[in-house]
Amino acid sequence: MSVNLDEKIFDKGLANTIAAESKMSYIDGVNGILEYVGIDIDSLARNSTFEETTFLLWNGRLPNEQELATLVAAFRAEYHIPAGLIDLIKTFPTDAAPMHALQTAVAALALHDSEADVNDPDANLRKSIKLVAKTPAIVAAFDRHRKGKEIIDPDPSLDIASNFLWMLNGEKPTDTMSKALDVCLILHADHGTNASTFTSLVVISTLSDMYSSMAAAIGALRGPLHGGANEGVMRMLDEIGELDNVDAAINQKLADKDKIMGFGHRVYKAVDPRATYLKTFTKGLAEDTGNLKLYEMSSRIEEIMNEKVGSRGIYPNVDFYSATTYFSLGLELDLFTPLFAIARMVGWTGHCMEQLEDNKLIRPGSNYVGPHEVPYAPLDQR
Ligand code: ACO
Repeated sequence: MSVNLDEKIFDKGLANTIAAESKMSYIDGVNGILEYVGIDIDSLARNSTFEETTFLLWNGRLPNEQELATLVAAFRAEYHIPAGLIDLIKTFPTDAAPMHALQTAVAALALHDSEADVNDPDANLRKSIKLVAKTPAIVAAFDRHRKGKEIIDPDPSLDIASNFLWMLNGEKPTDTMSKALDVCLILHADHGTNASTFTSLVVISTLSDMYSSMAAAIGALRGPLHGGANEGVMRMLDEIGELDNVDAAINQKLADKDKIMGFGHRVYKAVDPRATYLKTFTKGLAEDTGNLKLYEMSSRIEEIMNEKVGSRGIYPNVDFYSATTYFSLGLELDLFTPLFAIARMVGWTGHCMEQLEDNKLIRPGSNYVGPHEVPYAPLDQR
């Protein structure tokens, strides 16, 4: 609810506030439409690549062959992470949460970049390329470190999705695995002024630097009401265990007023179009791998939710079927949200570059509801 306070509006959760102008992604939450620079997300998922989609989001148009090759080469030249950062990652506790490790390592990238505090457009584009190229290497390096395995050098002959799977597993991925991950990266690359993107904008609007903004955004993403929900979905599926248990478990959760992870969205009151695409895609992947159990459980949860709360606009969001996709790719539960961060790095950096084109410090007010004119009581009188 919005309340007018002397010409200012109190809008709890900023749900009715337009906080930025952007040419990157368009969301129609009522009709379930998502476009990147006017191109339907389904069309991009079917036809594009993560690298090409990145060019689109950063430049406002699709690249020609030469432009795409230049961006791809720029990413590949930056896949590696500095030796000093690898040494730092090796000091991280092996039981640390990967999102904490990622946040720390992304902040530490600034220590290895002489341009960290140069805020001009060219330097920020170079930093954005580094951030998108190096985030997968950080996630993979920490995962290898925590398992006591040797950290694997990136392979610049591979695209971003395949290279990540290579660095993570030490095996070249199949085409199906690479394509599945590439599609997930496209679907997660941008999504308007969501909580983590807004966080990055607040930080960059102070004329701080890209690394600080990205570290802050990672912190916002990890919350279970945002990107952390994909982990929550997998935990829930794990807890339910079998298709036969789904009805009783979901009905019980709804009766207890528990939130079902992977459902509902601040903007979409129709089915999240990314979930629609992922559902079909995941089904194919499950059929390919012969493991349909999770898909069938997810489908049944969706049916129950449609019946019980669909009329209230609570439908599957992107996290619901991405959990099953990541699981089919053999990824561990706590790598789901880091994977989201790898993709969203494109959106965060893009929005920050956009913000700096016409910057204004983001600084909302607050509605003070505490007391006034309280006399100061000396310590011995309290
Ligand atoms: N399961 C059951 N009920 C739900 C769910 C859900 N997943 N989501 C919303 N509701 C209900 C709420 O209980 C509330 O009911 P009430 O009016 O009876 O109290 C009503 O719908 C409104 O919910 P809010 O949480 O107030 O809506 P808001 O717009 O603030 O929340 C949010 C959106 C946070 C995403 C919410 O739907 C949620 O918590 N979902 C589960 C977590 C999740 O999947 N997050 C990922 C979002 S997508 C992303 O960030 C990539």
